Amino acid sequence: MGQVYPVAPLTMGWCLDCHRDPAPHLRPQSEITSMEWQPEQPRRQIGAAIAAKLGVAPPVETCTGCHR
Ligand code: HEC
Ligand code: HEC
Repeated sequence: MGQVYPVAPLTMGWCLDCHRDPAPHLRPQSEITSMEWQPEQPRRQIGAAIAAKLGVAPPVETCTGCHR
């Protein structure tokens, strides 16, 4: 399996770490598939504006948001 490896652990804690604070992970919709995007401001600042504009609210407290 030299060419294939797990990038992220996929544990519940990993999901929730991001869901509790997604701003640093968000990017403009126009850049979602870009491999070259360079943020011009701090990621958290860009992401917070995107989260507010789009109403981003991932499930955290609601267990059935993920466990269905
Ligand atoms: C790097 C950040 C990040 C990680 C890691 C992450 N998520 Fe999310 N997830 C989000 C964001 C941001 C949203 C909200 C999207 C929106 O509001 O459009 C979301 C939304 C969701 C939703 C709701 C979808 C809907 O239609 O309402 C589910 C379910 C979900 N995530 C499950 C998971 C699970 C399960 C994991 C771990 C295996 C995970 N997520 C890991 C960022 C993340
Ligand atoms: C963001 C998505 C998400 C939410 C919200 C979520 N879970 Fe999970 N949960 C997961 C994932 C993914 C796994 C599987 C983790 C693994 O296989 O390592 C998991 C596993 C579990 C397990 C199995 C034991 C373990 O640690 O692997 C329990 C119990 C559990 N969740 C309870 C809850 C409860 C109770 C809530 C609500 C308070 C909740 N979960 C909310 C994603 C979520």
